[in-house]
This record gives sequence, structure tokens and C-alpha cells, in this order.
Amino acid sequence: MNWNITSPADRQHFAPEEIFAAGLAQHHLANTAYPIGHVTTLRPYRVTRRAGEDDRAAAAAWNDIDQLCLYVHIPFCEKRCSFCEYTVVDPRLNQSAEDTYFDLLVREFELWGQAIDSAQKTLIGFDIGGGTPALPQAANTARLMEAAHRHFRFKPGMQISIETTPRLAAHDPQKMHDLRALGIERISMGVQTIQPSLLRALGRNASAADINYTARDAIRAAGFEKFNVDLMYGFARQSLRSWSETLQHAIDLDPEYITLYRMRYKGTQIAAQAQHVTLEQIEAMVQLAKEKLSAAGYLATPGKNTYSRLTGDPGTSDYLTTRVIDGTPYLGLGLGAQSLSPTTLSYNAGAAGKNLTLYQQKLEAGRFPLQDLYHLSREAAMGKMISVSFYFGEINLASFRRKFGLSLEQAFPAEIDFVVQRGLMEYTATALRLTLQGEICYNGVIALFYAPAVQEHLLKLAHGERVKPVRGWRKIWQPEFEALKTSPCPAPALILPRLNSGEGRGG
Ligand SMILES: C[S@@+](CC[C@H](N)C(=O)[O-])C[C@H]1O[C@@H](n2cnc3c(N)ncnc32)[C@H](O)[C@@H]1O
Ligand code: SF4
Repeated sequence: MNWNITSPADRQHFAPEEIFAAGLAQHHLANTAYPIGHVTTLRPYRVTRRAGEDDRAAAAAWNDIDQLCLYVHIPFCEKRCSFCEYTVVDPRLNQSAEDTYFDLLVREFELWGQAIDSAQKTLIGFDIGGGTPALPQAANTARLMEAAHRHFRFKPGMQISIETTPRLAAHDPQKMHDLRALGIERISMGVQTIQPSLLRALGRNASAADINYTARDAIRAAGFEKFNVDLMYGFARQSLRSWSETLQHAIDLDPEYITLYRMRYKGTQIAAQAQHVTLEQIEAMVQLAKEKLSAAGYLATPGKNTYSRLTGDPGTSDYLTTRVIDGTPYLGLGLGAQSLSPTTLSYNAGAAGKNLTLYQQKLEAGRFPLQDLYHLSREAAMGKMISVSFYFGEINLASFRRKFGLSLEQAFPAEIDFVVQRGLMEYTATALRLTLQGEICYNGVIALFYAPAVQEHLLKLAHGERVKPVRGWRKIWQPEFEALKTSPCPAPALILPRLNSGEGRGG
């Protein structure tokens, strides 16, 4: 494999104890959204834009690839929610920008088609994400589907997945039919919470929970048999009681899958609220969700955030499943989209400014709409692959060996000893998987596998976040948290008080 030369920052080695503590202290950052601080941590690997070098490197990276995943980003929403971390353009531009945007997407498909002979490559996963990708007119989505079929082979039986808001599905049932008729089989709907005050505070189109039933009925009537509901936890002022009611509501909607997103604050309009949310709150919510969902027949292995009630079906889209288990490369098209080839990581223009200007200019000049492209070292690529693996809370041993030419134990001897001896991870027949104890320390465990440059970045973030509970926090949380202390998992009682008192923090 054509890896880049490892940077001095990635040749360091830190003690697992130190990194584990730093990951826990920085629990709002140490997650699957990797790498952290990529402007600095990936800087040595950035390919220059001079003389189109980045375009050539982007195309060359796909030379030896026969199978890949495709992600197409649709940056339009009816309204921008304050908690959202995704690339969404100003909703006032939706109408004027939509047709232009789909023209540009088709152009991007054509460029890739010419540069990598994509018609010879097979898609094994395909997500249309956003934003709200169900929002544009069906005729535009049809153009997108047609371009995908023209420029790639589709693996027979591959499932295509899309996302909607409840409001859109409830108000436009015809759109649900149109999307299903285009061959899209899985749909994901963002309920997030049913707590009205929280919905309002988050700038989310607040509506009675009833609308979710109307939306569900429209989705089912359109013929979707793979229906996922997204919920979010980890907001300041989100009570355990309201979380419990939201979980029950999602169960009552009777979807095949329920995905739980822990709120990631970085880069959002409400980033400052992260300091009001502690690991104790998070842990209580995770435990409550696990209990309620498993009692209702929705199952997930520790650390996995998609719960499925279908045996043998992980519940995630084909796109995400193959990325997580096999580390399948993915090509991202559209504003701000991310691509990962075996040796490069790149970002399209538009994520920072959230406008079409640069994306459009580059495509109109016949260039890939790249913001930055990084030619990765093996260490950097390992960090990225394992971070993605943690969507399922496990690292597939054969996939790791196949990608990197050495075993996980050879690559991370001290880290594996650390997690296995402390009962944080255990071996299954195919993977190294989080235990229940490890799940509680998710952020510490995942950080152990980050590239050293990213670990150094975590260590430098002085003493982690300041934990200052909002006024009234104890009143809201304490009684419910006390009840959880009798849960079979001992870790919160053992680990969290130490962390919250400052002991064990990375500095
Ligand atoms: C791209 S959004 C698309 C769904 C659709 N637009 C909606 O809001 O219903 C996919 C999911 O990401 C989750 N999400 C959004 N912002 C997040 C954040 N800051 N941290 C964690 N998850 C987030 C939400 O659960 C959302 O449903
Ligand atoms: S959460 Fe969904 S609807 Fe809200 S801004 Fe983000 S993508 Fe749009």
C-alpha cells in the first residue's frame, strides 16, 4: 500500500493510562468523528493544491479499488436546528439553489466517471444524507439516482438509504412514494426528542409527538420496510424522565431500528452547553436506553448505537455497515462531503462556510471540488479505520489485518493489554469488542487507538472540560441516578466520581 511517510508526531508513543484518562476527560470530543483537530493533526499529510496535485492524488487513490461505498450530501433543510453538526446551507437559499446544486452534483459524478473509470467499479453501499435529503423535488433526486446508475455498477441487492424529518414525511406523503419508487429501501427519520421545551430551545420545528405517527404512516404506506428512528441524548436540561418518554415514543412508532446519537457539541451553535453535561448524565441515559430498548426487543452490542429488532440485521444502512466492519473505502460527493480511499482522506469544499461558492467555482472550472486532501500514513489510516469501527463498539480482526498487513495485537500491543486486562474489551470469534464496562468508558477506550498526533492533541487540551452542572442539576438528576447505582454494571460508581473530582485527567 502506498502510505505516506509517518510524521514525527505520529512516531510518538504515549502510555495507555494517560491516553485513556485524556479520552474520558475529553469525552465530548473523543468519539467516532475522527480525526480531532485535523488542521493541525493531519497537517503533515496535506497534499498541496499547486498545479492540480490534489486532483491527481484524489483520482490515483482509487486506482486499485473495485468495490466502494457512495455518499451523496444534500445540504438543504426547512430550518436549521441549533444542535446540528452537519453541512446545511441557509434555508432561505433552498429554492433558488436546488436546481443548480443538482446540476453540480451531476457534474461531479461525471468528473469522477472520467477520472477513475467509475463505471467499472461496484457500489456495495449508498447513502443519500444531509441535511434533509428527502426535501428536494423528487425529479432532482431522480436525476441523482440516474447519475449514480450511469457512473457506477450497483451490487445486486444493495440497499440505498435516505433521511427525512417527521414534518416532511407527514406533510408530503407523495414524496415518500416517489423516493421508494426510485429504489430507495431504507429511510431514517430524526425524532430526536419529544420534550417540547427542548425542541423549542433547539430551534427544531417543534410539533406535537402526533406528527411522528402521521409521518410513520406515510413512510409505511409508501412501502418502506426498513425504517429507522433517530433519537438524541446528552443535551443540557434534558431530564431522564423526558428521555424515558422519548424512548417509549420511539418504541411505540414500531420502527425496525432505533439509533441513539449522543449530542456532539463541537462546531455547533450550542457548543458552549457541553460543559453542562457530565459523563454521569450520559451514562444514566445510556443505561436507561439499553434497559428500555432491550425489554422492547431492540438489541445492540455494547457501544453500538443502532438497535435492531430484526435478528441478524445490524440495523445500519449497507453503506455504514460495510464501512464499519470491513473498512470499505467511501467516495463522498456534494457540499462538504468526506471521502476515504485506502490511503487518502479528503473533504469537499463548503463544510466551513456552508455555502456553494467554492464548490461551484471548482466544478465549473472542471476540477474536483476539494477543500483539503490528505495522503495518510499507515498510523493515521489505522486511527481513522478504528474510529469508524467503534460505531459498532468493536474492531474486526480480519479486516484490520487485511488492510494494514499486520495484526491488531502487533499494531497496538500495550493498548490491547490495557483494555483486555481491565475488562474493557474482550475477544469474540471475529472481533475485539467493548464489554459493558468498556462501553461506559467508551471515550477513553476509543482514544487508545487514535494516531499519536491526535492523542497528543487530546493531551494538550488542558484538564478537559470544566464540569459545572447547571443550576438545579442535582434536583433533576440525583434521584434517578441513585436508582441506577443498583445496575449490574459497577463502572459508573467506580470511575466517574474519580473523574469528576479531577483525578485521572489528562493534562
Ligand atoms: C443529517 S441528520 C438528518 C436527519 C434529518 N435532517 C432530521 O433532522 O430529522 C442525521 C441525524 O444526525 C443526528 N445529529 C444531528 N446533529 C447532531 C449532533 N450535533 N451530534 C450528534 N448527532 C447529531 C440527528 O439525530 C439526526 O437525525
Ligand atoms: S438536524 Fe436535520 S433538519 Fe436540523 S439542521 Fe440538521 S440536518 Fe437539518
